[in-house]
This record gives sequence, structure tokens and C-alpha cells, in this order.
Amino acid sequence: MVGRRKLIVVSNRGPVIHDRDTSGERVARRGGGGLVTALRSLVEHHDVTWIASAMSDEDRVVAAEAEEEAIEETARGGAPYRLRLVAHDPSAYDWYYNVIANPMLWFIQHYLWGLAAAPDVDHGLHHAWNEGYVPVNRNFADAVLAELEREPEAAVFFHDYHLYVAPTLVREQAPHALLAHFVHIPWAMPEYWRVLPEPIRRAVHEGLLANDVVSFHTQRWRQNFLRCCEDMLDVEADFSTCDVRIGERFACVRARPISVDPQEFDEVAGSEIVLAEEEAIAAGRPEFLILRVDRTDPSKNVVRGFRAYELYLDAHPEMHERVQMLALLDPSRQDIPEYAEYLGAIQRAARVVNDRFQREGWVPLDLQIRDNFLQAVAAYKQFDVLLVNAIFDGMNLVAKEAPLVNARDGVLVLSENTGAHEELGDWALTVNPFDVAGQAEAIHEALTMAAGERRRRREAIAAHVREHDIAGWIEAQLADLDEARERLGSPLSA
Ligand code: G6P
Repeated sequence: MVGRRKLIVVSNRGPVIHDRDTSGERVARRGGGGLVTALRSLVEHHDVTWIASAMSDEDRVVAAEAEEEAIEETARGGAPYRLRLVAHDPSAYDWYYNVIANPMLWFIQHYLWGLAAAPDVDHGLHHAWNEGYVPVNRNFADAVLAELEREPEAAVFFHDYHLYVAPTLVREQAPHALLAHFVHIPWAMPEYWRVLPEPIRRAVHEGLLANDVVSFHTQRWRQNFLRCCEDMLDVEADFSTCDVRIGERFACVRARPISVDPQEFDEVAGSEIVLAEEEAIAAGRPEFLILRVDRTDPSKNVVRGFRAYELYLDAHPEMHERVQMLALLDPSRQDIPEYAEYLGAIQRAARVVNDRFQREGWVPLDLQIRDNFLQAVAAYKQFDVLLVNAIFDGMNLVAKEAPLVNARDGVLVLSENTGAHEELGDWALTVNPFDVAGQAEAIHEALTMAAGERRRRREAIAAHVREHDIAGWIEAQLADLDEARERLGSPLSA
């Protein structure tokens, strides 16, 4: 176990969102997303200052009261940490989040643009980059620099695609700072990045290489990144050590697959509220349950998943009334037209299946659109088949979480384009996300698999996740920071 570190964590979405309750009191709600859970143990074991965007009106009030300083917060479990909220200009934030980060970068990195029709890189896009993405990144960089002034020895830990330019801006002012960046989504191959005009794609790659460590979930995304660096910049990438040389500096590029906290999942799965949710699912389910749990994101490939299920029902009339697909979908990024349209497409595709097959007493596809994590965990325990057919996905934690607590030796049907497939592929039924016929067959194979085989596969996945848990992920990254610090030649503060 390594000593206590001084860390500056930087992510767009912070660990809490402030609000007012009905009596007018300020409350801090836990922020959404897996990152917060993943980084919780950092807060428990190290001195963390977390820099994030002010999201709610109350966040902005908190940021204004703090006068460009951090406030003291307490994590669940009692660990103290410092939180610095950055209030951006609302229009700049809109361009940054709703135009550049999502959909532009997200769609590139998940190969979601159908290039014959979209995107148009027009003045609006350039404007959103210059007046949105860059200024918001500058605000983050300024906050990081202020914190580094306070703690020059602290390591900075950027997260994700919202912050590609910030490391360049920090590096300019703090050439010796220790900077790391984790990219939680796929990295597309060089040709696809050419959707973006040269100065923008260059700024993205230069920004990441301004870090000492750049990490991805899989070797596949890392490899693409190394190729892109060589293709787009005048740098040397070493494909065996996975280091990139930029003049006199190095950036170490690493593959560190994220995981979950198995103990936490065990506890949640056994909690009273999850047991109650599970009872409700068990009371309504037919003999076989096919589950999917996703955000309503085009990268998740929900519509093709429904189509595959329709093909399965077509081919297997003997299973009518004996099977149900339960789709628990968290509505996501609805201010972005592409996302709002995709939610509509999901609803229409579900309607097609139910209109074709529904009978008195049997709803073949139960579509529930809401954010209910505890219900999802209850469903994790109940599935016979878990369908994860993402078009591309950085990791996909559902594929790790659900088999961990599943009580029916359910089978994982897993897209070959998820990060999770690099680790779990041997024990899953692999599908090509575009091949709906193949997915229909995989559903059949999963539902007819012998009990012993189902058990062997599920237990292997659960054992893998227990062994390679979130604590291991964090430790690997701290070791990467040590390695980078050694290269920089200064001893790590303990
Ligand atoms: C997904 C991705 C994360 C990303 C997050 C942002 O969970 O896997 O890498 O940071 O989306 O979500 P948001 O709701 O903030 O747009």
C-alpha cells in the first residue's frame, strides 16, 4: 500500500450537486455516474482536492460564496476532501457540453457519425470550440494552477473528453507539474479523427500529450491513440513500451481497465430496498428474463438490441409468453437533439415488438425509462440473459456489475466492441453489435445453454471482477504516477 498523496482530481461532473430542500436548507446530493463511485476510495485514502463544474444554481451560489477557493466537503463514509466548483459562463458551457463534448467528441470516439450525412463542421462548430470548449478548459486550467500554487507537489488527475485542452494550458504555466489523464471512452482510429479540422484534432492530441501519463481502459484504445499521435503530430510513439516522446518529454500511455467495488455491490444487493425491488421483478417476470441496463445513448445500441429480440421471437414461437426483455434505461443528455431523437427511436422500436407479439397477460418487452440504480441492481440478480450490445464502449461496467450479484447463473451476451470484452470475452457469448441476426441467435444460445456451463461462465466472470477490483485500478494508476514522477526526477511526497 502506498502512502498518502496530495491529488487534484479534475472532472466535469463533480462528486456532489448542491440543491435546496423543501425547507430551504442547502443539501449536497451525490453526483451521477460511475466515476464518482470509482474515485471514492481516492478520497478515503489520500488528500484530495476535486475540481468540477458548478452544475446547479445552488452550485453556482456555493462557487460564488467560496470566492475562487475550495470548500470542505465530507464523502459518504466520513472522509474529508476539498471541492472547488468552477462556474462557467452559461453559453460557453452550453457550447462546450452540448456541441463539442457531446455529441462531437463523443460521437467521434464511439464512431457514431454516419459520415455521408453528418456532421457538418460549420461556423457553429468552430464557434463552439473557440468560445465554449477552449474557455471552459481554460477555467479548469486556471483552477488547477491556483491549486498547484497552494500545493506544488500535488499530482493532477484529469478525467475524460471534456478536458482535452486543459493539460496544455496547465503545462504552459507549470512545466514541472505531474499531470495524468484518464480517457474513459474509446479512442477512434486516425482516419475517423479526420472528421475534425486539423487545428482542433491537433489540439486534442497535443493536450493529452501534455500529460505525463495518459490512460485508457483497454489496449485497443491505447493502440489507436498511439497511432493517432504518430499520424497527427510530429512525435515518436514506441509501440512496445507505449511511451510517446515529445521533444525532451515523455508521455507514458497505459491501459488500466476500470472495475467496481465488489463488496459495495454485495451490500447493495442484500439491502432491504433492493430486496423489495427484486420481489416486484420476481412477481411480474415470466420463466426467462433478458435484461439490458443502459443510458439512452446511441452508443449503447438499444434499437438494434430490440430488433434482435424481435427476430428471436419470430424464430421461436415456442418461447412466446415464457420470455420477457426488461430494458431499464436511464434518460441521458436530452438537451442534445441526437439524444432526444434516439430516445424516440428506442420508444418506437419497443412499440414495434410489443404491437407484434403482445398478448393478454404477456408484455414481451418491458421498457422503463428512468434513473433507478437500486432497481437495476435488483434486476441484476434476476436475469437469465444480460444483453450488452454496445456499438462501442470504453469499458461497460454493467457487464462487470451484473454477473457479480446475479443469482440465476445468467449468461452475458457481450459486444466485441466493449472494453469489457478484452477481459470477459472468454466467458461471454460474443456478438457483433451490427449483426442483429447474430444477436438473436446468441439470445437463443444463452437461453438454451446447459446449467453447468452457465454456472462456469458466470462464476468465472464474478471471480475475475473480484480479483481485479476498483482498488487494483486505483493502485495501478498511483504506480503509474510514481513511475512518471521518477522520470521527472523528483521524489514523491508521502
Ligand atoms: C459516461 C462515460 C463517462 C463520462 C460520462 C459523462 O458515463 O462513460 O466517461 O464521463 O458518461 O456523463 P454526463 O452525464 O456527465 O454527460
